Amino acid sequence: MKKILGVFNGKFQDLDKIKISPLSRAYTFSDSVYEVIPFYNNNIIAFEQHINRLSKSCKALNIKASIDLCSDEILHLISASKLENGYIYYQISRGVDALRSHIYDSSIEVETFGYVVNHAFESKDLKVSLCEDIRWQRCDIKSTSLLGNVMSMNQSKRNHCDEVIMHKDGEITEGGASNVFFVIEGKIHTPSLSNKILPGITRELLISETKKNGIFIEEGNYSVNDLLQAESIWLTSSTKGLAQVSEIIGHKTKIEINNEVFQRCNDIFNKAFLSS
Ligand code: PDD
Repeated sequence: MKKILGVFNGKFQDLDKIKISPLSRAYTFSDSVYEVIPFYNNNIIAFEQHINRLSKSCKALNIKASIDLCSDEILHLISASKLENGYIYYQISRGVDALRSHIYDSSIEVETFGYVVNHAFESKDLKVSLCEDIRWQRCDIKSTSLLGNVMSMNQSKRNHCDEVIMHKDGEITEGGASNVFFVIEGKIHTPSLSNKILPGITRELLISETKKNGIFIEEGNYSVNDLLQAESIWLTSSTKGLAQVSEIIGHKTKIEINNEVFQRCNDIFNKAFLSS
């Protein structure tokens, strides 16, 4: 198998050579935050926005990392990989406890870890299921505590689906690893930012880039019933770009594949971020 380049606490080495302590708080408490940063044709997509979000996640959890050092490691991983298209996974954890303890010692040193992989940015149509959003109340922090997402996405996989769209108290929140957009009577909608969803970078890029092209995306609170009225639904993420939903299992929908509004948004996004 081809070697994957990684970095652990500043040391660049093959991913399979990296060893962590079982007392790392990333391991015992998921006391860590992360980013997935895509690059295409040697261009990093929205690097600054990803670094800002990483910094915000650290601040929210009071993890004292040197974000400049982390940025340098991310840039080095990309250049050393010699890959044209791919993404970086980069994680910052609070550090290693002397003994497992909920209350951390403020003197422990942060632990950083990342790797770079090849990735093809191909848009794939997705079959999805709906489920109750069982996650915690700070989904706006990009933390590695993702058990709610893991449980829901694997249940969805057992139902032969590719992704899940979650709802809390009847309101659509987001995908298991993506944000949601949908079109009703030609108008595009997406759930507003709140503590219930991750402020996705792809979401932000799409909203601003379509606005420049005269297309307005409405941010609001939407019910499951709203979603089921949609003529087009798509999910966004750094690894998926824009991916259309082809079917919501167990529901009759009006979804049209390659709907005109979706196509325009997809063309705008690809032209801005995924063209040579
Ligand atoms: N996940 N919502 C959730 C819960 C996510 O996990 C992600 C991305 C997004 C989209 O965010 P962005 O556009 O910044 O990638 C929304 C990444 C890709 C992951 O965990 O692998």
